[in-house]
Amino acid sequence: MPPVLLIAGSPSAPSRSTALLHAVADHLAQRDVEAQLLQVRDLPAASLLAADTTAPAIAKAVDALAAAPAIVVATPVYKAAYSGLLKTFLDLLPQTALKGKTVLPLATGGSPHHMLALDYALRPVLQSLGARHILPGVYASDAQVTLVPEGAYRLQDELALRLAEAVNTLATEGLQRPPVHGFAPVAFSDVRCSV
Ligand SMILES: Cc1cc2nc3c(=O)[nH]c(=O)nc-3n(C[C@H](O)[C@H](O)[C@H](O)COP(=O)(O)O)c2cc1C
Repeated sequence: MPPVLLIAGSPSAPSRSTALLHAVADHLAQRDVEAQLLQVRDLPAASLLAADTTAPAIAKAVDALAAAPAIVVATPVYKAAYSGLLKTFLDLLPQTALKGKTVLPLATGGSPHHMLALDYALRPVLQSLGARHILPGVYASDAQVTLVPEGAYRLQDELALRLAEAVNTLATEGLQRPPVHGFAPVAFSDVRCSV
């Protein structure tokens, strides 16, 4: 199975939202599921802004997304929505880039008040890209993710538990689903109608 793609949408380093992705990667590794981290901030800025999908680094990222059976996307909350950096990447994807895929959305924000940004801002975009199954998101406020200077991080117990549960759902519902090939044909004699 190709790796699960972990998309980091923060322009910052170190990054709390990216720390959530590292925790997800650890949980996936415990299940022998390979994951690949895509740091959008490392993609060439001019090509991102121009949506130049011929730029090799961007083409590689788009290919990794196309191959991935599932996507985990993490963003900081910026102005009550997701980051503009993440949007530059999502905007250059083909319209059905997430077709057949399961997506787990993650976000961190300065306070708990903007937790619904996952649902009212990010979810419709993922839906418009054809995601098959968008799992309930995981939101953390800054106080729940402690970054330490050496690049490590510590998650509050309650948050760590929610992430573990989300990865469990991703693994059981997202990675074990058969691929989508459209609707299977149904013989006319099998069609039942009730009014
Ligand atoms: C430009 C900017 C806008 C922000 N807007 C919000 C906001 O609207 N709501 C919120 O809760 N936090 C907001 N924050 C705080 C970040 O969402 C928060 O610190 C987040 O954890 C940063 O994630 P990162 O470390 O992955 O970049 C903002 C931060 C920045 C830099």
